[in-house]
Amino acid sequence: MADTCRTAEGKAAAEDAPCLSRRSFIATSALAGGVVVLAAIPIVSTVVLPAPRTGVGKWVDFGRADQLTPTDFSMLSYEFMVKDGWQDLPQRGFVWARADDKGGVQVFSSTCSHLACNVIWNKEKGLFLCPCHSGMFDANGLPAGGPPRKPLTLLPHKIVEGKLMVHITL
Ligand code: FES
Repeated sequence: MADTCRTAEGKAAAEDAPCLSRRSFIATSALAGGVVVLAAIPIVSTVVLPAPRTGVGKWVDFGRADQLTPTDFSMLSYEFMVKDGWQDLPQRGFVWARADDKGGVQVFSSTCSHLACNVIWNKEKGLFLCPCHSGMFDANGLPAGGPPRKPLTLLPHKIVEGKLMVHITL
């Protein structure tokens, strides 16, 4: 059935009068609203939501690798800037590293595999301890107690001109 243009009183509108039926008005409004919502999504997500971090990474120079010993882990801290939307934000953290007995280096993330608190190396106990839920990892990063079921992450690294370079992924 074709839409008929009517006045507010229900009479037929003049033929040259602009005609917009209720059905057309609702359909046009819904379409316009949908376009506005779709256009706003990238703007709102850029301004309000944090930028996705997956895959953002950087090789960080931790200085001379020959200063590491096989008998103890060293806490190596880092700080660098990352572009996050329209601003540059500092990223800070630390890793745990030691020389291994094969002339290489072992580098662990400090992030607990349970709920991402920072673990601390305890030399006397020979364990990484997590303060959040009493998680424990042995010197090879394997779960040794508490809730963690996955090991600590071994971080990609390389020695370049005697310097330890570690790939930090955010
Ligand atoms: S976050 Fe480390 S044990 Fe829960």
